[in-house]
Amino acid sequence: MKIAIGSDHTGVALKEEIKTYLNSRKIAYEDLGTYTTDSCDYPRIAEKVCKAILGGAADRGILICGTGIGMSISANKFKGIRAAACSDPYSAIFAKRHNNANVLCLGARVIAGGLATLLVEGWLNANFEGERHQRRVDMITRLEQRSSVEPTTHPDAAPAPITEEDTHPVQTHP
Ligand code: RB5
Repeated sequence: MKIAIGSDHTGVALKEEIKTYLNSRKIAYEDLGTYTTDSCDYPRIAEKVCKAILGGAADRGILICGTGIGMSISANKFKGIRAAACSDPYSAIFAKRHNNANVLCLGARVIAGGLATLLVEGWLNANFEGERHQRRVDMITRLEQRSSVEPTTHPDAAPAPITEEDTHPVQTHP
């Protein structure tokens, strides 16, 4: 199994703790940034990790921001990504068993390294149970398809103009 891992600036230290755990388990991973504590935009990192999964370079992803929420909202915009923001082991385990979550999102300002590692361990060790849960995951996939063909007039769905911040180069590994 290969993991794509990423964080914004708030999650750099926790990401290092998770990487230490992955190293101890001999689980392969690729760190897709960010690599410094300079402020950065979490959607960029979510995009890199999700594209690694959807492109086949990784099997699962771990995304860390301050709360785990921005990362999960961003990641769940990608068709085929099921991202779960978790802060307790039960949720992390069942995110895999019942929801087949392929991305685990953690909040570096919410949980410390020891607990975060337990969540990662539980999620990695859990297996999707299929059967009725497969039916429900399939329903989620169909929701993705429907949402892209039904235009909405809700203001939250209107794209804002592309800005300089959207287009400046993504930080690369030093
Ligand atoms: C950064 O301040 C913070 O907003 C970000 O890490 C994350 O928590 C957003 O959801």
